[in-house]
Formats: sequence, C-alpha cells, structure tokens
Amino acid sequence: MSCTIIVGGFFGDEGKGKVVAHVAHADKPVIISRGGVGPNAGHTVQVGNHEYSVRMVPSGFVYKKAKLCIGSGVLVDPRVLAYEIETLGVKGRIFVDKRCGVITEDHIARDKGSAHLAKKIGSTGSGCGPANSDRVMRVAPQAKDVPELAEYLLDVPKAIDDALKKGKTVLLEGTQGFGISLYFGTYPFVTSKDTSASQIAADNGVGPTKIDDVIVVFKAYPTRVGEGPFNTEMSFAKSDAMGIQEFGTVTHRKRRIGGWDGGMAKYSAMINGCTQAAITGIDHVDKACLGVTEYGKLTKKAKAFLKQAEEDIGSPITLISTGPEITQIIDIRDELV
Ligand code: IMP
Ligand code: MG
Repeated sequence: MSCTIIVGGFFGDEGKGKVVAHVAHADKPVIISRGGVGPNAGHTVQVGNHEYSVRMVPSGFVYKKAKLCIGSGVLVDPRVLAYEIETLGVKGRIFVDKRCGVITEDHIARDKGSAHLAKKIGSTGSGCGPANSDRVMRVAPQAKDVPELAEYLLDVPKAIDDALKKGKTVLLEGTQGFGISLYFGTYPFVTSKDTSASQIAADNGVGPTKIDDVIVVFKAYPTRVGEGPFNTEMSFAKSDAMGIQEFGTVTHRKRRIGGWDGGMAKYSAMINGCTQAAITGIDHVDKACLGVTEYGKLTKKAKAFLKQAEEDIGSPITLISTGPEITQIIDIRDELV
C-alpha cells in the first residue's frame, strides 16, 4: 500500500501532469485524486501526437484503470467539468467529493471584473478567488447542492481510506506551484489557497501519517504566469534565443521564463516535505537529451545540472523528464535504497 503526493515546486506548470501520468502507468494506482485550488489550474499531457489539456479532471486520467476523484478542498466549476467529462470520455470513473466548493457565473464575473484580481494580481479569471472567499464566508454552494453534479458525488476521503486499507496504491496530485501558495508564496501575487503537499493531503481528507512519499516537480527553467516577483527571470530575448517559449494552458498568456533557482528549490523542498524530486525540461539544459530514457545516456552537461539541483533540493532526483511526450522520461525510483 502506498499513498504518494505529487506537487509543483516552483510557480506552477512544472510538468506535474506528465509526471503524474507516467507514475500512474508505472505504479497502477486504483485512485488518482486531485487537490489544489480549482479550474485555474491547467495541465497538459501529451500521449503520442495528441495533446490533452485539463483544468478539472485529474491529469492522471490518461491511465485508464484508476478511479478519478476531486477532493473536498477543491473548487468545482460544473461547466468546465461537464465539458471535460464529455471530451475526455471519463464518465463512469470520475467522482467529486460532496463537499467541494462550487464556482458560479457570479464568481467568474467578480474575478474578471476586479481590477485588483484580474489586473494587479493577474488572476486566471476562472472565479477561484471570489469562490474561495465566499467559501470562507460560508455562503458558497457545495457540490451536493448542485443537481448537475449529483451523479458524480462521493465521499472521497472514505474511498481513499478504503483503498489504502486494502493495500492498494493511491496518487494525490497537486495543482499550481509552491511559489503561488497563499501562505508561503510571493503574497499578494499568489493564488487563493496554500499549494504545498500538506494542503494537497488536507484537500483530499488524507491525514499526514498516511502519506508515504512526496514527489516535488521542478522545472530546469522555471516559469511564471501573471504578476509578481521572479528572482531568476530572464528577458524574452534570451529565452527566445534559447528556444524556450511557453503559453498558459488556461489563459494562453506568454509565460515568463527564468533560470534554475537553487534557493527557492531548497525552501520549497523543505516546506513540501520532499522525499524525491522530479526534474522536467532537461532537454532545455542540453538539447542532446531530448527523448533520452536512460540515465547513462544523458550528457555530461545535463548530469552536472542534475548534481547541482540535487544538492539544492536535498533529496534524490528520481524522475527526469526529457521531453513533452509521456514516454520521454527517466525513472530511477527503483534505485533508491
Ligand atoms: P488565480 O489563482 O486565478 O486567482 O490567479 C492568481 C495567480 O496565480 C495568477 O498569477 C495566476 O497566473 C496564478 N495561477 C493560478 N493557477 C495557476 C496554475 O495552475 N499555474 C500557474 N499559475 C497559476
Ligand atoms: Mg498549468
């Protein structure tokens, strides 16, 4: 039996979706349940030539044998969920905790219409901030109050506990990234909730003693969307010249790009209780690493980068993503003693 949390270590968009999808195929969890804020998250998973983008459904959906759950702490937008259930064909295996907060059209209008949220903070306009605020005021609807969600309702913490008691594997996926945590990030340029591993456990109703592993995903070249401080940010001229250009999954805004931030990685690993780290985008450190699937075939330059990153993080790097496609990954978790 094992319960693993996968979270983002920088400002989001570290490639958690891809790491979750790989770990799911390798570890065969019976449940993949997501925590995090809500549909402000955008995950991209590329399988073969097909790229999927999800905002509500757990990014582990590409592993077809798992039950997919949305934990109690998460905000659900019934319209986004319905669209994804339809387009991804996950009906029958997707469940929503009955206590999830619900995003209404009014929350979206308030998010988009707020100069503070939409302009100063650069929110995603998905209604999450106002919905979490209403939830704290105890006036937001819950999933069990919404007829469209009736067929998906579940006691997610109980389902996870039952699976763990039977000796099964469960994956808990986080969204957003450490740097935009309401508690630990660059306040006020943050999202409307904590994003660290403890929060992801709480979002799913899983007590801290039940967590076996926390995999923190770091991007070799971190990115940030929206406003706020970014220590290692580089100019677009420089990142363009390096061939790194990224756009947000939800908002399509151009992502700001930075260099490796060892200090932030160390602090993030500490608060997340990191036991293992994943590094994505090693092909940006050295193009020759694109698609490599064996550690021994990485270049000297890439290995030197990983050695430094591992020192900064203070935990072993056991997953190395070498490209966007789900099979472009090196998994050396077995070599951990
Ligand atoms: P909100 O979460 O929509 O309120 O946006 C607050 C800040 O968090 C903005 O800078 C967003 O760009 C950022 N943000 C929210 N969700 C994500 C995410 O999933 N990835 C990256 N940035 C995000
Ligand atoms: Mg994203």
